[in-house]
Amino acid sequence: MIKPGPGLMKHFLQFKDLRAEEYAYLFERARIIKARFKNYEKYQPLADRTLAMIFEKASTRTRVSFEAGMYQMGGSVVHLTSEGSQLGRAEPVEDTARVISRMVDLVMIRTYEQAKLELFAANARVPVINGLTNEYHPCQILADLFTLIEHRGRRGADALECLRGKVVAWVGDGNNMANTWLQAAEVLGFTVHVSTPEGYQVRPEVAGVRDPGCYRVFDHPMDACRGAHLVTTDVWTSMGYEAENEERRKAFVEWCVDDDMMAVAQPDALFMHCLPAHRGEEVTAEVIDGPQSVVWDEAENRMHVQKALMEYLLLGRIG
Ligand code: CP
Ligand code: NVA
Repeated sequence: MIKPGPGLMKHFLQFKDLRAEEYAYLFERARIIKARFKNYEKYQPLADRTLAMIFEKASTRTRVSFEAGMYQMGGSVVHLTSEGSQLGRAEPVEDTARVISRMVDLVMIRTYEQAKLELFAANARVPVINGLTNEYHPCQILADLFTLIEHRGRRGADALECLRGKVVAWVGDGNNMANTWLQAAEVLGFTVHVSTPEGYQVRPEVAGVRDPGCYRVFDHPMDACRGAHLVTTDVWTSMGYEAENEERRKAFVEWCVDDDMMAVAQPDALFMHCLPAHRGEEVTAEVIDGPQSVVWDEAENRMHVQKALMEYLLLGRIG
């Protein structure tokens, strides 16, 4: 078991919980860990460590990437859902946190309100990772940025340099992904061009950003995409908002990333989507299955960056 001391334990609840130089470290570790994995090299620094994963919402990528990643690093995993645990029977979050964190070394939670995750973390003895909340999805943006760096062929000290001053176009809902992109832009020095339908705008106070220079708002998605180095979008209806589905379908109809939008971006712009995707809604099949799309690398990289993150939260810097 780890013995967290004062100032030693870190959580990853929002993107801004880590500093730029910590991201530089994580990107480099993720690159090394991925290379070892591709080379079939055993790397098990987390032997005897246990990760508890709590899912209050559905997941494919987050579950598989954390679970496979933890096993590959020599550790083990406990999987809980609200329905299958006492969380669904109103056991207080604080009590759940106190109990679980006496038995495991690390906790990953996917839930609704960020406040619930924060409450869990405040009562936990071990690091807690945000596996998606209504407000944020920091592990996904960690993977997205690593994918961008990787596709630009950058490494080491160059990794952050290749992000600085770049433009990321966000087309669609002002949701957890959009908020996290804004935080990442503020921490790492790039700009997000945001275009959302009326009523679905990002709110800087929810995104938790203070620098107005980290994002620009555009009424039309084409304008947001103009000159962008990366174009990205997400589902029109996030988990937990299903009752608004019909209303959203109508409101978002112009916010479908298509070839015209990609054509006004940089000629070598990449397309990303955290997945799951709905072809014909937020993105056309031509774009997501086209040559500029890197969505499969992006999904795979969830595992590599999260392995680097778990290693960092449990063992600190290696070497
Ligand atoms: N992108 C992502 O978090 O996917 P899952 O919902 O499948 O975990
Ligand atoms: N914004 C989406 C992301 C899914 C990975 C949701 O919260 O459902």
